[in-house]
Amino acid sequence: MPRVGDTLTTLISEDLIADRVGELAAQIDAEYRDQGDLILVGVLKGSFVFLADLARRLTIPHRIEFIAVSSYGDRESEDPGAVRLILDVRHDIGGRHVLVVEDIVDTGYTLSYLVRLLNARLPASLRTCTLLRKPDRAKVAVTIDYLGFDIPDVWVVGYGLDYAERYRTLPRICAMKPPAA
Ligand code: IMP
Repeated sequence: MPRVGDTLTTLISEDLIADRVGELAAQIDAEYRDQGDLILVGVLKGSFVFLADLARRLTIPHRIEFIAVSSYGDRESEDPGAVRLILDVRHDIGGRHVLVVEDIVDTGYTLSYLVRLLNARLPASLRTCTLLRKPDRAKVAVTIDYLGFDIPDVWVVGYGLDYAERYRTLPRICAMKPPAA
């Protein structure tokens, strides 16, 4: 239930998300066929819903890992590009095929940090997948191999994404405005 004063407007419906997740899974299935286990690295917390749906649509063998980095708020206050590792993957990714699964790429700082971090461990391959991207907010260039949707520069919640830890379990993606201060 929305918090009093928050305005939520549906941007991407449940059906549209499900269709796109199915398409991405089919593309990943085709491109990683006969390559052995694919390691899906979900970026906590926001990617947990997308990762769960995407992984269940894959037919190729895969494993799930999680990684977590510092929150958005921490970074805006001081050095905007500084990203801190909070939780690392549990297994060595050296020599494995790795796909990083993000909820949203905003400035690109988080994903470019993760690509650098994980590439240093010499995986057989490293690709990136994000459900959402805000092209107007990009600060650093980062390659996205699998993209769900480009969205405008609005704050979005639902399908794993939050505003102050709220709305992660909304089944659709909504643009959200908090009450005017
Ligand atoms: P970046 O490092 O600026 O690309 O930011 C990536 C992270 O910021 C995402 O993983 C989200 O946690 C958070 N983020 C950016 N935009 C939004 C949004 O509109 N809603 C919720 N979280 C967001």
